[in-house]
Amino acid sequence: MDSKANPLHPDFRLGVLGGGQLGKMLALAAGNWHLPLYVLDASRDFPAGRVTPFFTEGDFQDFDDVYRFGSRMDVITIEIEHVNTDALRRLEHEGKTIHPAPAQLDIIKDKGAQKLFYREKGIPTAPFQLFEGPDAIVAALRAGRISLPFVQKSRTAGYDGRGVSVIRNEESLGNLLPGACVVEEMVDIDKELAVIVARNASGQVVAYPAVEMAFNPEANLVEFLFCPAAVSPALEREAEALAIRVIEAYGLCGLLAVEMFLDKKGKLLVNEVAPRPHNSGHHTIDSCYTSQFEQHLRAVLDLPLGSTRMKSASVMVNLLGAEGHEGPAIYEGLEQCLAMEGVHLHLYGKSITKPFRKMGHATVVADTTEEAAGRARLVMEALRIVTDR
Ligand SMILES: Nc1ncnc2c1ncn2[C@@H]1O[C@H](COP(=O)(O)OP(=O)(O)OP(=O)(O)O)[C@@H](O)[C@H]1O
Ligand SMILES: [Mg+2]
Repeated sequence: MDSKANPLHPDFRLGVLGGGQLGKMLALAAGNWHLPLYVLDASRDFPAGRVTPFFTEGDFQDFDDVYRFGSRMDVITIEIEHVNTDALRRLEHEGKTIHPAPAQLDIIKDKGAQKLFYREKGIPTAPFQLFEGPDAIVAALRAGRISLPFVQKSRTAGYDGRGVSVIRNEESLGNLLPGACVVEEMVDIDKELAVIVARNASGQVVAYPAVEMAFNPEANLVEFLFCPAAVSPALEREAEALAIRVIEAYGLCGLLAVEMFLDKKGKLLVNEVAPRPHNSGHHTIDSCYTSQFEQHLRAVLDLPLGSTRMKSASVMVNLLGAEGHEGPAIYEGLEQCLAMEGVHLHLYGKSITKPFRKMGHATVVADTTEEAAGRARLVMEALRIVTDR
């Protein structure tokens, strides 16, 4: 059998664009099968550099770097969607297997194109309009074509909540972000849910149990994640079915994290998706039969998908850099956390900490989410990521 046909053949090459924490955790999962994971990112000092020897230094947004790297691979995937899709398109044209496909990435990378896709496919999402920039938004507001409050999202500049501006009143119009954007109606949110689904080229599809995300209002980042989400069995089924509908609509192979809003009327709306392992699936490493990282490998390699069942309830907490600290990272309170039952620490190895930077996560497993949440709060209090400079 040639290496192309057998992903677990020693000569088989799976390449990943991006070597941050997601690339690192993918490489760790690949390590269980002794599958070499080839990674492209700017520096070997990034999180994945420590766990895979097959690291190429280069820019995943640069055509030549991606093309050269991809030419040496059998299958190419990503851990970040902001990559050079022109190079991926060329590689696809030359017969390389790329998951997610460049055309799917181009839709997902652009929040405007993504919203248009949901509208076209009849997938429920918050009502929206597209604009060229702040002047056009203000003009639409004056003409009564949109109304306050609303949520403005940069079409391409956003990440981790940074490209999102909530405009509540006339005074906050000064906070409008520059450039092409989506303006969405403000949803009256009851809960923010996420369902991770996976699909392989043979068409097999699986869904993980829905999780509930609780945000840090200051950083607009996920702070706690509860699994399972506290929703009725009927709503759980509805959320899973919606996520499956979304991955089928894209026809995508790999993982797809589907972020949803449950509004106060009990309606589910798709917010956005990520076509890769996602923060809302980190708990699966410690609390599910198959981690999201192994599942992504299975899906992009067209292997049988793993069971998504929970082994236990869990709460995941993102370990963020402390406010007022920027520089080489020091972890305070590690021993206290390790002494607690059911606490699984995952430190990414980023050398520099910054306020609210995601430096790691902890997953607490327990019999109930309430019990796990109590201990997750203790972890949050005990662990501080600071610098002594
Ligand atoms: N239409 C909306 N109505 C109310 N709140 C919203 C709306 N859109 C976004 N938000 C809030 O802003 C958060 C960030 O929005 P979104 O997920 O679109 O941005 P993001 O920058 O991609 O975030 P991330 O990368 O962290 O997922 C949401 O999780 C939600 O809390
Ligand atoms: Mg989001």
